[in-house]
Amino acid sequence: MDIEAWLHGLGFERYVAAFRDNEIDWEVLPKLTSEDLREIGVTTVGHRRKLLDAITALGASAPPAAVGAAISGASTPADAERRQLTVMFCDLVGSTELSARIDPEDLREVIGAYHSTVAEIMTGFDGFVSRYMGDGVLVYFGYPQAHEDDAERAVRAGLEIIDTVGRLYVKSVKLSTRVGIATGLVVVGDLIGGGAVQERSVVGETPNLAARLQALAEPNTVVIPASTRRLVGALFEYRDLGSVVLKGIAAPVPVWQVLRPSIVASRFEALRGSALSQLVGRDEEMDLLLRCWARAKVGDGQVVLLSGEPGLGKSRIAAALEERLGAERYLHLRYFCSPYHQDSPLFPFIEQLERASGFARGDPPAVKQEKLATSLAASAPLDEDFAFLADLLSLPASERCPLPDLSPQRKKERTLAALMRQLEGLTRRQPLVIVFEDAHWIDPTSRELLDLLVERVVSLPVLVILTFRPDFRPSWNGQPRVSMVALTRLDRHDRTALAKQIAGGKALPEEVVEQIVNRTDGVPLFIEELTKSMLESGLLREERERYVLDGALPSVAIPSTLHDSLLARLDRLASVRLVAQTGGGDRARVFLRAVARGFPASRERAASRPYPSRRLGTGIPAWHAPGCRLQFQARAGAGCGACESAAQCAGAITRADRRSI
Ligand SMILES: Nc1ncnc2c1ncn2[C@@H]1O[C@H](COP(=O)(O)OP(=O)(O)OP(=O)(O)O)[C@@H](O)[C@H]1O
Ligand SMILES: [Mg+2]
Repeated sequence: MDIEAWLHGLGFERYVAAFRDNEIDWEVLPKLTSEDLREIGVTTVGHRRKLLDAITALGASAPPAAVGAAISGASTPADAERRQLTVMFCDLVGSTELSARIDPEDLREVIGAYHSTVAEIMTGFDGFVSRYMGDGVLVYFGYPQAHEDDAERAVRAGLEIIDTVGRLYVKSVKLSTRVGIATGLVVVGDLIGGGAVQERSVVGETPNLAARLQALAEPNTVVIPASTRRLVGALFEYRDLGSVVLKGIAAPVPVWQVLRPSIVASRFEALRGSALSQLVGRDEEMDLLLRCWARAKVGDGQVVLLSGEPGLGKSRIAAALEERLGAERYLHLRYFCSPYHQDSPLFPFIEQLERASGFARGDPPAVKQEKLATSLAASAPLDEDFAFLADLLSLPASERCPLPDLSPQRKKERTLAALMRQLEGLTRRQPLVIVFEDAHWIDPTSRELLDLLVERVVSLPVLVILTFRPDFRPSWNGQPRVSMVALTRLDRHDRTALAKQIAGGKALPEEVVEQIVNRTDGVPLFIEELTKSMLESGLLREERERYVLDGALPSVAIPSTLHDSLLARLDRLASVRLVAQTGGGDRARVFLRAVARGFPASRERAASRPYPSRRLGTGIPAWHAPGCRLQFQARAGAGCGACESAAQCAGAITRADRRSI
């Protein structure tokens, strides 16, 4: 929506020209005073008052992006949709007391500054500012666009709000805020309100819980319940606040204060825990890695490009290699790209150097310099290289190693060369295994360094394993000593073995195994989570050597840990949202296989001909229901694929839709 439409909505079209001529945009709007309005030609007191009230109702400072998104998102009619959301509620501390103390116009400016700070941070994390309620802000993560890490985004955004707002002084007022976050299933439903404040209703306990947690949070803290805590694992450090009784919520809620991001570098370890179950299958991949290692360690360096969809087990294989190498003599270097640092040059290398040097929070620069020098001693760097590496870690130049005055381009080249020499220095002591994780989030400068590394590695005792998802296009394919491994889904035998392993080696009832095998489509992460869900569901009774099922087996709900990533897939495939129903023969069931396998770009293409059998693996024609936002594949028989699960779990299917399948 633009300002013009907003004025029309208020019945003030007569001021459109005045607003335009005076270049009043969404940024300026919340800052307008009564005096400003008079100056641009709003001469009556009544109109000025109405405009000021409308600006406040709009959220005082809703930025164009947030307002625009809210409105455009709300303008498409759609059916109610169940989905997992992480909801954040943040509020300014002491605003009532403030309103009694300062002039109302100053107060509006204070709240305006607070709102724009929050909105700006939300834009960075793709949070959706749903509503400004007084000075509070309600934000959704996971709607309208889901991400696999919505809970993490919300917590990071919360910490950043606390930090940034805590440094704000407006009209000599120092601001502070509190943040409550909660995750759960909601129904995103009908449009409510009208005009500028129109938005979708979100029904469920989650927003209420977030608001209650916000209210109990100490100033400048972020508080989360177990539902969110579960999804963010060890990515953050927490303070256990015990269980609290909250109004409107039946049972006491265990809550945590989030202190800060943790120093755990590996998302794999932070989210999946460090106690690994035994590797299932993957014999060929392990053989290849061991063969490459055998060549690499004698100086015939090797690069293995390991690609696969999320959850297929790339990190698990890299970890398995480390287990297999056991007591062999080698140095293990691990680099991690991060979705939050894709614009931060050399982030994985900086983070690795800091970790290897043992930097602790709050170390003064001199101590860090000392630690860096000790850690780099192993690679015996030149003084000049040390200066570039210290500078890379934002440490001040020392007298012994001053930093030469160079152009940014030259400085970058010298820094890359210093990093390369550091690796080469290490290889003189021991062969290296370098695991470079999640290259799909790499920053451009790190990619340049990888180009150098892949080129140089051929004559070094180094095995480089690069993991990435299929949307990353490596440029090193076909270069000497570069092998490519595209991970496939686990076969039926391995799916069963993995499920049994997660059940602690105890046999599971046949129908339970069937459901796990059929619904998870061979993705180990899905198998793990669904099996755990089954075990926690209370449907199974544990005996000495097996689990038994006492009654009939219902379809177990998709675990919350999978909601976000499955929904993110659905949202990426914008047209695939709602499940339609199919009649079709002998209780044909709808299979949203295409969702899990990557849907075709064009709706028409799939609708006009059978979907390529190789891709879907069944040769069953894809169906397309005219007027429906979904294509699907139907087949008779039992079982349902992960895609159906994806849609269900994602909550794309409301109860009414589900009944029709
Ligand atoms: N072959 C396997 N045997 C046993 N467990 C496995 C196997 N493959 C994967 N897993 C388990 O499945 C989960 C997902 O695996 P992993 O995190 O390695 O996937 P990934 O491909 O690295 O995903 P992402 O792209 O999100 O990083 C982990 O808990 C892992 O331990
Ligand atoms: Mg991984």
